[in-house]
Amino acid sequence: MTTRRPLIFLPLLFLFINPSISAVLKLNVLSYGAKPDGATDSTKAFLAAWTQACASTSPASIYVPKGRFLLRSVTFKGQCKNRAITIRIDGTLVAPADYRVIGNADNWFAFQDVDGVSILGGKLDAKGTGLWACKNSGKSCPSGATTLSFSKSKNIVVVGLTSLNSQMFHIVINGCQNVKMQRVTVIAPGTSPNTDGIHVQLSTGVTILDSKIQTGDDCVSIGPGATNLWMEKITCGPGHGISIGSLGKDQNEAGVKNVTVKTATFIGTQNGVRIKSWAKPSNGFARNIVFQHVTMKNVQNPIVIDQNYCPGNKNCPDQVSGVKVSDVTYQDIHGTSATQVAVKFDCSSKHPCSGIRMEGVSLTYKNEVAAASCKHAGGTSFGVVQPTSCL
Ligand SMILES: *[C@@H]1O[C@H](CO)[C@@H](O)[C@H](O)[C@H]1NC(C)=O
Repeated sequence: MTTRRPLIFLPLLFLFINPSISAVLKLNVLSYGAKPDGATDSTKAFLAAWTQACASTSPASIYVPKGRFLLRSVTFKGQCKNRAITIRIDGTLVAPADYRVIGNADNWFAFQDVDGVSILGGKLDAKGTGLWACKNSGKSCPSGATTLSFSKSKNIVVVGLTSLNSQMFHIVINGCQNVKMQRVTVIAPGTSPNTDGIHVQLSTGVTILDSKIQTGDDCVSIGPGATNLWMEKITCGPGHGISIGSLGKDQNEAGVKNVTVKTATFIGTQNGVRIKSWAKPSNGFARNIVFQHVTMKNVQNPIVIDQNYCPGNKNCPDQVSGVKVSDVTYQDIHGTSATQVAVKFDCSSKHPCSGIRMEGVSLTYKNEVAAASCKHAGGTSFGVVQPTSCL
């Protein structure tokens, strides 16, 4: 007996003298007055739990148990006293039934200026249907809130989260560094307006893995200043596909570089992999882009570069895009197109696309080889490329 005692005692002693190793501050939103009844406003309770987690000098974990929690717009602000806040959600967060309550806020849930936040699990139900109906009726409506946004933040992890029926974009990453998103599910009808799945801009080191996005607008949209972005095992559809752009809306704009889409499936989407820019002057660019191992199923525009975007033909003085598109690789892209032109490169006459590389492309339209169209596009093709390359 006496010989074994130190073995039991030692770890305890170690804990006592080094509390930072396992002293995670555990906070349950129920202790702050949140109610899992779907009817009681739990906004203050969530905010109170966050405030305590953020003020903690040791790692903190906020727990949201099963049930439905009614929440208005909440901003979770940094900077915090620790760099390890975990929010584990077993329940569903629901927005108020009246879309106007959160409809004029930019975001439903916003994380600002945080470092080291992980969200594990959770369903976010923004109840966007009412706002979409308002928008579709032509009435004047609130613009709608993004469901979940991270801005000026770093070291963010989102795993196993589901976003349902967002009013506007589902998830936005803006001005962030090192963001990992895994097993994210986005669900909204194909007819829902402006419901982009995940939007990334002015951010570096964003990774999106193993995610499934069904929505009414872009599956993933990539704005100016997105660099070192990696997407792997993504399923899109319905929706508008993965889009780099629209770029070049402003004269002065951060470029997009080093973007990889690896192993993706597009089902019945409007586009597959797209690069899009405004037909107006800009110093923007998109370069070092890779689209690899992509399956298209009945996609209207499987491969597209469109540099002539000018809605309503307004404010595009010379109708030429300043955005330089270069070094774009399409490798192992196969499947079916819903229209005859499966590959369309419509580049800027002033800054032709360069370094486009196609290898192992095989797209059909109604069981025949589809067509390709090129304007101001240069590059090379290797191996099987069908439709035949027009580069
Ligand atoms: C490109 O981005 C990936 C992450 O997506 C990163 O690992 C790699 O180092 C980047 N390459 C360059 C040249 O910056």
